[in-house]
Amino acid sequence: MPEVNPARLLTSLADFAAIGATPAGGVNRQALSVEDRAARRLLAERALARGFTVFQDEAANLFLRRDGRDATLPPLLIGSHLDSQPTGGRFDGALGTLSAFEVLEALADAGVETGRAIEVVAFTNEEGSRFSPGCMGSMAFAGAGNLSDWRRARATDGALLADELAATLQALPEARMRPIGHAVSAFVELHIEQGPVLEREDVPIGVVTAVQGTKWLEIAFSGEAAHAGTTPLEFRKDPMGAAAAAIACIQGDIMPADPAARLTVGRIAAEPGSINVIPSRVSFTVDIRHPDAVALAAMERRVHEECEAAGARWDCGTVIELRVDMAPGRFDPQVTAAIEETCRALAIRCRPMVSGAFHDALFVGRVAPAAMIFVPCRNGISHNEAEFVSDAHIIAGAQTLLGVALRLSAA
Ligand code: GLV
Ligand code: MN
Ligand code: MN
Repeated sequence: MPEVNPARLLTSLADFAAIGATPAGGVNRQALSVEDRAARRLLAERALARGFTVFQDEAANLFLRRDGRDATLPPLLIGSHLDSQPTGGRFDGALGTLSAFEVLEALADAGVETGRAIEVVAFTNEEGSRFSPGCMGSMAFAGAGNLSDWRRARATDGALLADELAATLQALPEARMRPIGHAVSAFVELHIEQGPVLEREDVPIGVVTAVQGTKWLEIAFSGEAAHAGTTPLEFRKDPMGAAAAAIACIQGDIMPADPAARLTVGRIAAEPGSINVIPSRVSFTVDIRHPDAVALAAMERRVHEECEAAGARWDCGTVIELRVDMAPGRFDPQVTAAIEETCRALAIRCRPMVSGAFHDALFVGRVAPAAMIFVPCRNGISHNEAEFVSDAHIIAGAQTLLGVALRLSAA
């Protein structure tokens, strides 16, 4: 059985962590940014140096292909994403992408010929932080969303998606363009768990059987700008009052009512944003998650009702937009079985689990058999510069991915 090269993989993770490195030890390599382009370039150059073929599609999804015996068979896809949160960690996405590339290199080193080709993918804009929605590249790949609907999207820094996408594609002229959504035989994504379960139970591998659902709402209250010192309560149309009431209900009432519920207000803006002006407008985001689609829809309705009520109480207009709607998804039993069998063969303990985070595999899983491999991260911390995965867990994850890739590419 071929083995991954631990030193090469750890060096590769460090090399990519240097692209967009933050002083606190994390990365800021947001989707389609200059740093994201630099990471794609480095990966593409390494692929070309190894004799792999490099492709990209119109969503700037990047593919690195090692041919197999039978070119008529659809390739096995492995990989993840290279973009990060603004204060992201070194492993979210990078671990799965670079381990997948290590799989290709290890197979090449060992001279193993697979039955079908294996392609490594780095999907575009998984995080959804700079441009919404997240999983943009994999949604477009799977036909679950339309690139043309997102081209007018504005980044948090004002950039237009269409411009950033074009610049990213142009920055890699060596990559052959291919039509979006080519057939693949299966998809396997290695990722850090981003939660505390594996570490707490001291289990090195999670076999992900399902992903919970996510909805992103953008809520805006509009009132009337007025003087902070002179405007009595009964004259105020204060959108901050409405936002405060709505958020208090989301955090203090809706979420505590259900232990499986996750609600997060991660971004808030007040206009004009002056200390002594009652704001004219306050907008904020709500990220809602639940493993059960019915419970998720009920929470969304409840957030709507509470926001409408809070807006009315403060005499404000209320606008609620649904920005992301990801139904919960189940992974393919044959792919999860291949992961379990690989762990058994490698004598690595594993356990089934549901992902609390969304992932590109959720969307690829709609068009091909897919599943995920999780490894523990320290204190379950992710979307944080302190994110950390031990070398032993990195190697166990990559070796498991290699074993699964061999099983699924035998053809
Ligand atoms: C992925 O980044 C998520 O927010 O689940
Ligand atoms: Mn990720
Ligand atoms: Mn993430």
